[in-house]
Amino acid sequence: MTYDLVIKGGSIASSSGVTRGDLAIRGETIAALGADLSGRETIDATGKLVLPGAIDVHTHFQLPFCGTVSADDFENGSKAAAMGGVTTFIDFAIQAKPASITEAIEARRGEADGKVCVDYGLHAALTEWNADRQAEIGGIIKSGIPTFKMFMIYKSQGWQSTDADLYCALREVAKHGGMVGVHAESDDLINLFQAEAEREGLTGAYTHAITRPAVTESEAVARAINIADAAGGRLYIVHMSTGQSLDHLEEGILRGVDVHAETGPHYLLLDDELFKREQGHHFATCPPIRKPADQERLWEGLSSGSVEVLATDTCTFTSEQKAMWGGDYRKIPMGMPGIEVLLPLSYSKGVGEGRLELGHMLELLCENPARLFGMWPRKGTLSVGSDADVVIFDPDLQVTISHRDLATNCDYNPFEGTRVTGWPTTTLVRGRVVVRDRQFVGSPGYGRFVKREPVAPVDGR
Ligand code: URP
Ligand code: ZN
Ligand code: ZN
Repeated sequence: MTYDLVIKGGSIASSSGVTRGDLAIRGETIAALGADLSGRETIDATGKLVLPGAIDVHTHFQLPFCGTVSADDFENGSKAAAMGGVTTFIDFAIQAKPASITEAIEARRGEADGKVCVDYGLHAALTEWNADRQAEIGGIIKSGIPTFKMFMIYKSQGWQSTDADLYCALREVAKHGGMVGVHAESDDLINLFQAEAEREGLTGAYTHAITRPAVTESEAVARAINIADAAGGRLYIVHMSTGQSLDHLEEGILRGVDVHAETGPHYLLLDDELFKREQGHHFATCPPIRKPADQERLWEGLSSGSVEVLATDTCTFTSEQKAMWGGDYRKIPMGMPGIEVLLPLSYSKGVGEGRLELGHMLELLCENPARLFGMWPRKGTLSVGSDADVVIFDPDLQVTISHRDLATNCDYNPFEGTRVTGWPTTTLVRGRVVVRDRQFVGSPGYGRFVKREPVAPVDGR
């Protein structure tokens, strides 16, 4: 039998181990795994790892936010994804009141479809709760968007939800087998600490960290977990950043709350001393990067399995956009680029430095995101019948991260100068090579919207 394409002689990896052999593709799917497979086209992967494409479940491309629009649009951001070995990402359709969530989804699809270079999905972000929003939930889940997002902060953006909103949304979403993600920070406490900083005349970038100490996140995480416990729905904590939040997460899991969490490379590898640099405002994101002790606890949370997903929260702002802060930390456009370095950092700093097994890294980047977000086994695994989303990864390639070599539209990188060992060289999305030998060869519009399945048992049963 001759297949369309065979990736030959690589070390094919999954969470259960590594097998040396060939991976054959027919059309858009994986057709066979074995030895001596023949194809009309072959790619030699000798000495390389063959991995499932990574899934980044948290991006914000071309997001209107903090008075500007994030600088990686769907075309460029998804090109950066492909270059970094990410074959599927999930962005957000944020409801713009008084318009409906359905309208937000249509608008976001209008921005992404025809532009994306890899596959993508959307979460629906709820910015209010009422009978109209409640009526939309079931249909949105049926349409392939089973995951929602609510913000416990961002009043000035018009995005903030009350605890009652969160409770009602969790209860309704659970009826249809969905999951609610939450940006957990305490608006009240942040306001208090910002008012105190103002009285002391503090405005520099480090004030972002001072006014958002760990409790501003952990209190909100605990509250959200308690609300989910009472409402009975499935909760997902996005961009979890502190050790104290992890304590609450683990306590919630132990008492049987259906709660899951992600963290990102910036929380594992960067700390808040960076805010003291001249360009410290470049590192500002919400929640802020934290203390070394938080990093250690988050690595422990990954090891123990309580933190199930690595995702980037990519929200790119150039140095020109970041300059809008004008010396006042409250005016910094919040967010950083990340998608392109997710896999190399996870491999080099996780697997390479002995903090993660390779199989566990694949759980965090591929398998758990696919399972938790309704794409398994179509995505996240190199199994026969799955989409041929494949990354050929050179585990020995040494790269010093520089924005100059990256596809993102950003003119700096939070990991600038970081030396990593291991980099993706070739990326395939549904059988098509989109990056070959670190050169982008894909095309805008090839990527497709992924209709996802419900992610949780209906009503928790
Ligand atoms: O500061 C951040 N993280 N910007 C993106 C929006 C969000 O809160 O995820
Ligand atoms: Zn957020
Ligand atoms: Zn985000």
